[in-house]
Amino acid sequence: MNDSRETISPRAFVAGYPIRHSRSPIIHGYWLQQFNLFGSYAAVEVSPEDFHAFIAGLRSGESGYRGGNITIPHKEEACRLADHVDDIAREIGAANTLWVEEGKVCATNTDAYGFAANLDQHQPDWAKADKAVVLGAGGASRAIIQAVRDRGIREIHVVNRTVQRAQELAHLFGERVFAHGMAALDEVLGGADLFINTSSLGMKGEAFPKIRWDRLAASAIVTDIVYVPLKTQMLREAEAAGLATVDGLGMLLHQAVPGFEKWFGRRPEVTPELRQRVEADLEAHG
Ligand code: ATR
Repeated sequence: MNDSRETISPRAFVAGYPIRHSRSPIIHGYWLQQFNLFGSYAAVEVSPEDFHAFIAGLRSGESGYRGGNITIPHKEEACRLADHVDDIAREIGAANTLWVEEGKVCATNTDAYGFAANLDQHQPDWAKADKAVVLGAGGASRAIIQAVRDRGIREIHVVNRTVQRAQELAHLFGERVFAHGMAALDEVLGGADLFINTSSLGMKGEAFPKIRWDRLAASAIVTDIVYVPLKTQMLREAEAAGLATVDGLGMLLHQAVPGFEKWFGRRPEVTPELRQRVEADLEAHG
């Protein structure tokens, strides 16, 4: 049965554990207001023990949600529990966006889209790069490698402290992806025209590897998916070396676009005002 209130006022969520740091309610709340829509988007804390039941409630319609975002630590489990997983999420093995269609929970992952859209906005020629270096081989690097590969960049070098993790990703993402340990970083940087930090390095103030920025192409673009702080040490160094930089906040904003459109039926825009709102929250709460 379709409750008319639900039709008029669709509800969406972001589910994670913990969830209090999520900026998604600010983003979606801003767009709901912009479009003057009666809808809601709320952060819900769902523990790992309760996640299965949460998805069951979404599927049955009992929870009243049209869909929502999934964040740490549920992205992999969401992919396993969904009834229909698209190719993008299946390859990454993690879903960040769910919606319900005819009683089925559908899943995708919009991180690769968000990453590419952020660079499209700030450095539109980024995908002309021939050689990309991705630092880090954790969960967050997967969508980045997928995005860079799918935009046709010829050589993608994944450099990671634990080389086995980089090798797994090279195997997963195909023949244009090469794996290296940290010792190979200087060499691999030679002539690179895109450098992406996906590691958590620099977030906790640990020792930071010395990066030979002069080894990159002079026209190289450097980006970091970390956005707290907005200007990471990596970005500061790259900027000081005269390279073009793009911070990671835009990826967060853009990855939210396809979900909003699915749940609320309007395609929203990433505006400077939206960015300012999220920046203000980062400044206030870190
Ligand atoms: P996420 O899912 O957010 O990517 P993760 O899976 O914990 O988080 O991965 C963090 C990434 O940062 C990994 O590439 C990790 O390297 P390892 O695979 O060797 O653990 C990298 N990283 C974290 N701390 C690091 C450090 N001190 N030196 C080098 N790499 C580090």
